[in-house]
Amino acid sequence: MTSSAPRRRPTRDNGSVTVQAASLSDAVVGRIRTDFAELGQTVNERPLVYLDSGATSLKPTPVLDAERSFVETHTAAVHRGAHTLAAEATEIFEQARERVAAFVGADAGEIVWTSNATEAVNLVAYAIGNASAGRGGAASERFRLREGDEIVVTEAEHHANLIPWQELAARTGAVLKAIPVDEQGQLRLDVAAGLIGERTRIVAFSHVSNVTAAIAPVAELVSLAHAVGALVVLDACQSVPHMSVDVHELDVDFAVLSGHKMLAPTGIGALYGRLELLNALPPFLTGGSMITTVTLESAEYLPAPQRFEAGTQRISQAVALAAACDYLSVVGLDRIAAHEHELGARLVHGLQQIAGVRLLGPEDPAARTGLAAFDLEGVHAHDVGQYLDDRGIAVRVGHHCAQPLHRRFGMTASTRASTYLYNTTDDVDAFLEALSDVRRFFGAAA
Ligand code: ALA
Repeated sequence: MTSSAPRRRPTRDNGSVTVQAASLSDAVVGRIRTDFAELGQTVNERPLVYLDSGATSLKPTPVLDAERSFVETHTAAVHRGAHTLAAEATEIFEQARERVAAFVGADAGEIVWTSNATEAVNLVAYAIGNASAGRGGAASERFRLREGDEIVVTEAEHHANLIPWQELAARTGAVLKAIPVDEQGQLRLDVAAGLIGERTRIVAFSHVSNVTAAIAPVAELVSLAHAVGALVVLDACQSVPHMSVDVHELDVDFAVLSGHKMLAPTGIGALYGRLELLNALPPFLTGGSMITTVTLESAEYLPAPQRFEAGTQRISQAVALAAACDYLSVVGLDRIAAHEHELGARLVHGLQQIAGVRLLGPEDPAARTGLAAFDLEGVHAHDVGQYLDDRGIAVRVGHHCAQPLHRRFGMTASTRASTYLYNTTDDVDAFLEALSDVRRFFGAAA
């Protein structure tokens, strides 16, 4: 393992993508689309229009090939065997860690494999809970939560970055507080400044809301948190796949991501943690491969990241996640962000023209990423989704695992269209055209 992996430099060409423009030209998007077999399908006898990448992204052939090739030629247990295949598999596995680390501006030792972002948040919360219960010795004392300590989240969190903190508060006697959002879904920094105080130990928030598409003021929140010695946990699920993110530059203490939202398979995600914090935290899951010495009474643990990787790991999935990072790097995160920003602005503008639409999140497209959730007056989101699905258009409907945020806006459900690098303006237009007829179809408009 190395701590000097190159930042954002792809280690191999994905073979099909060459980018020249600041955004992605139609020709480039066209070539990208050929890597996604699913886009060639028809759904309900219509060409698929996939606008649900906020829930999970499609997977390109080079990523699938990378996983398949590893499984076919290097299946072996990592960090366990003395035979050649095991040694090679271990090297490839650790190189994957370096590539994912470089992708988010971290050092390799600061990346812990998890199943997804949800598990990564739980890892941090449970490890802090273990420290609060006295596990981890003197090193973990800094994490110990006491009755009346405070954990600050936001009203915009999806459940993955809320419930683990509720549970931690319940186990430790800590108090959970939430920074509210304004009418446009923006975090109320004025309130945050009053909420984050001397008793605050953890501030956990999403970089980008999966409902409002609003981008959080990370620098301001980090500054407020660090001024009182609180740890910052950044949920980067909806940012890392879509824009350039450098966790060291952002100066967060922990960050989590899910591979399946960024072209990789399900079952792989990552936790970033500042190395000295990871090495001071007691483990979450325990078992094989995370220990130095075990007796019948007790065990000594390896340093991070291995101390958090008990049992046989998701090896081929980690290799696939590294390939996904390479793919995104070759296309270029800045270009992807620019492309999605254009699609997002088109979505917002189009939605604002349709009678009965109530858009969630900032009206200014500049303050948003490439997704848009909305209510359509008089039609339940599930009916909207069904109508669109009949026309081959895949969107997400429901509360998007963010019930408190929907409640904040007086709603129980919304419809969400979310874009990615493979979407086109034609996709957005097809969605808008279909949507414009929904209220008439359901008798909610003349
Ligand atoms: N992050 C998941 C989604 O937005 C819950 O679909």
